[in-house]
Amino acid sequence: MTDNFSGRIFGRGQPYQSGGEPQDSSASAPAPYQPQMRPAAQPTNYQPAPMPQPAAQAAPQPAPQAPPVATPAATAPVTPVASPQQPVARPAIQPTVPSPAQPAPQSFVPAGRPESAEAVGVKQAQRNHQAAEGGLHMIGTVIEIAGSGSQVSLDAALINALVDHHDPSIAMAGQVGSQIKIRVGNVWLLANIRTQRLDLTNAKTIIAQVDFLGEGDEERLTGKIYNFRRGVTRYPVPGSEVYAVSSSDLKQVYAADGRASVNIGTVFPTRDIRGSLYVDAMLGKHFALLGSTGTGKSTSAALILHKICDMAPEGHIVMIDPHGEYSAAFKGNGALYDVNNLAMPYWLMNFAEHCEVFVTSSGDERQADCDILAKCLLQARSKNRLAESIGKLTVDAPVPYLLSDLTTIIQNEMGKLDKATNTAPFMRLKGKIEELKADPRYSFMFSGMLVGDTMADFLGKIFRLPSNGKPISIIDVSGVPSDITSTVVAVLSRLVFDYAIWSRNEPQRPILLVCEEAHRYIPSDRVAGESAVRTILERIAKEGRKYGVSLGLITQRPSDLAEGVLSQCGTIISMRLNNDRDQAYVRAAMPEGARGFLDSIPALRNRECIICGEGVSIPIRVALDTLEEEKRPASEDPLFSVLWQETGGEEELLDRVVRRWRAQGR
Ligand SMILES: Nc1ncnc2c1ncn2[C@@H]1O[C@H](COP(=O)(O)OP(=O)(O)O)[C@@H](O)[C@H]1O
Ligand SMILES: [Mg+2]
Repeated sequence: MTDNFSGRIFGRGQPYQSGGEPQDSSASAPAPYQPQMRPAAQPTNYQPAPMPQPAAQAAPQPAPQAPPVATPAATAPVTPVASPQQPVARPAIQPTVPSPAQPAPQSFVPAGRPESAEAVGVKQAQRNHQAAEGGLHMIGTVIEIAGSGSQVSLDAALINALVDHHDPSIAMAGQVGSQIKIRVGNVWLLANIRTQRLDLTNAKTIIAQVDFLGEGDEERLTGKIYNFRRGVTRYPVPGSEVYAVSSSDLKQVYAADGRASVNIGTVFPTRDIRGSLYVDAMLGKHFALLGSTGTGKSTSAALILHKICDMAPEGHIVMIDPHGEYSAAFKGNGALYDVNNLAMPYWLMNFAEHCEVFVTSSGDERQADCDILAKCLLQARSKNRLAESIGKLTVDAPVPYLLSDLTTIIQNEMGKLDKATNTAPFMRLKGKIEELKADPRYSFMFSGMLVGDTMADFLGKIFRLPSNGKPISIIDVSGVPSDITSTVVAVLSRLVFDYAIWSRNEPQRPILLVCEEAHRYIPSDRVAGESAVRTILERIAKEGRKYGVSLGLITQRPSDLAEGVLSQCGTIISMRLNNDRDQAYVRAAMPEGARGFLDSIPALRNRECIICGEGVSIPIRVALDTLEEEKRPASEDPLFSVLWQETGGEEELLDRVVRRWRAQGR
């Protein structure tokens, strides 16, 4: 202990981290630093010239080999001595806490430890460069390294001294959500500040909880971080110095590392560092885009999808668009479908989906109706010539059948009954099917034109196989009658999943399914019960990535999403969330390292977001780029103040509206 301590004091030029052994021994005991020792560890740019050591401070300095005066680091008053504003002493022959790559000026090298000329040269170059760059900015000290969260003490005066720094990243040093760096050997650890509180024993010190994000190597000459990667190999020991992270550090951290990525905005707080999303990592493990209404979710979704489409013109993206917003955004590079041209054949539905549409009863009656439907549907499907080539046909198999065959079969089954048996289930089924067939609002799905075997064509057009330069299909379901919207979304989603399963032996064509208003379709148990759409989307969330199906969920109410769905999303993009409950849900789903950002979620500006998870190297706050007008989704917000200035043509307008109304959408 004593040896180690003195070794650290005098071991400058022999970084204790590279010595191999000191880490464990130092970690097991609180670093017995003395406040007086700190000044020497100051970056050179703070204290260009050594100053005389006040007697009061010099007095208690022990002889190097003497047992240290144990002053726990947590209570060490860092501030008074380390503050740049306060002239502080640097002892002539100093006991100094070494900062391995931040050596004190040459004159402080203790006698008897000559450095090689080369080492001296490199260090001088480092100093010069760091001075030119504005140098390193120490802001505090590591207090505790623990699994549950590590703590650092930050010096309020040092932080305040930086607030006007020309580099916005340095100016933000020490704030919740900002990053710090700590040197361990010749790597820099990067950590995120999660919480802050005042040290009650010393009002000039702030105790902050931090989460480690990853580490990068130190560029020998500049001291900057490069080759950043996630995860931490070695933790720092208590007592290690904590530095502000500069924009040039961040630039290195965010530098796309050769993986495919799309650039979406500017990283906060820098002015020019681009934030990017790693496409494969983001799509490989699903993503969620969250934010209260009006914060820019739809526009952000369009922005991200546009960038992905530009990168992957032969991609396969299916966007379910409940409000009909996105057609406007993807006129140029999307295949646009709505009730007028979707032509989704009813026979693509599986049995559960058929029940949702054809069975109207509830309780015990519902079970009886479903049993009858199962039997009759199987008969109707088996009438198709295709059925002959299929060994054992199931009710779920997407084999075309005629609705008229189905109703005839139901009629016949009813005829086979004893007089005493209840015919009501048969009547209900037949009645509902005929009603759907006759209603023009349902014709996009139940039209007599849809009996042909168009399955391959249908899949080809909505999955963009081939994409023909339009890698995204926008499926506007706003015109679908509300009682079957959820079933239509279920069918589309299930087709994506089933396609992936049945094409396993084929050349892989991964598909991204994007679902707006996801809370409607994957609602929590509190909000709604079982449904076909919820079942399939939950299944895609859990298993989709095994089969190359990626899910993108967009919602303004993350707390209404089914339990567990959010945590299946490897990347979370959160815009402002105003509601406490929603924030709590997002917090639970975010990885540890991003917690420091959460406090800023309610404070984000429009079109600002926090991104964490697989899609980014470290959690980032990004101001999204402005999306060109013609690529934006149709905004839902009418400008009352402008529109209420307009008048004229009301008679014709009402005429047209009434006609459309009566024709039910045509
Ligand atoms: N990146 C952006 N570029 C340009 N305009 C944006 C951007 N983000 C949001 N907006 C504007 O903000 C408004 C609200 O955005 P919107 O995407 O409709 O929000 P939300 O879907 O969250 O309700 C829209 O008028 C949109 O034009
Ligand atoms: Mg929206």
